[in-house]
Amino acid sequence: MIDKDINSARQKRKSSEARSSLMVFPNDTNDFGTMYGGRLIELMDMVGGICARRYTGTKAVTASIEDMQFYKPINKGDIIEITSHVIWTGTKSLIVKTKVTKEEYTEEKIVCSRAYFCFVAIDKKGSPVVVPELIVESLNDKKNYSIGQEIRKRQKLEEKRFQIELKENL
Ligand SMILES: CC(C)(COP(=O)(O)OP(=O)(O)OC[C@H]1O[C@@H](n2cnc3c(N)ncnc32)[C@H](O)[C@@H]1OP(=O)(O)O)[C@@H](O)C(=O)NCCC(=O)NCCS
Repeated sequence: MIDKDINSARQKRKSSEARSSLMVFPNDTNDFGTMYGGRLIELMDMVGGICARRYTGTKAVTASIEDMQFYKPINKGDIIEITSHVIWTGTKSLIVKTKVTKEEYTEEKIVCSRAYFCFVAIDKKGSPVVVPELIVESLNDKKNYSIGQEIRKRQKLEEKRFQIELKENL
């Protein structure tokens, strides 16, 4: 009943975006000169978090990272661009798609990584709060939204499995 009241008062909005570019320096790389995966995830989480905050207008914490792909290596000196946008919303959570492209010495942008970050909107006390409902318009929006739905389905199974692992100390 309470959820129904919340839903009836729920705002709707279009996806927000966030974008950042940087040049890869030696301290971003591993011991064979390509970008260190953990550093890339950190940057993706940061840009995704900015996107989530712009969308929700609240604090947003990372709840899970899904389907992280390191598709092409990134080298020292490459310029990378990280772009994020909201593709799916639940009640208090949202999924942000984050892509990374690299430029070497031409203007061509090559996709190197992609992941889906699930954020949960929280209030000042850290309790989850309702997010605006995503407006889905274009064909690409619809395709991305159904990817989000599919990820959410898998997450629910993972949540159950994780609870069993905790209980059985696996
Ligand atoms: C994320 C967090 C706030 C969720 O709190 P919670 O009390 O379990 O939340 P609820 O059970 O009320 O669920 C709220 C929403 O979060 C989603 N959620 C909770 N845990 C999740 C997880 N591990 N992965 C994906 N979604 C999750 C729920 O499915 C629900 O979504 P919906 O409202 O859209 O249906 C809490 O687990 C937390 O603080 N985790 C640590 C976050 C963190 O430190 N991140 C790294 C630094 S930013």
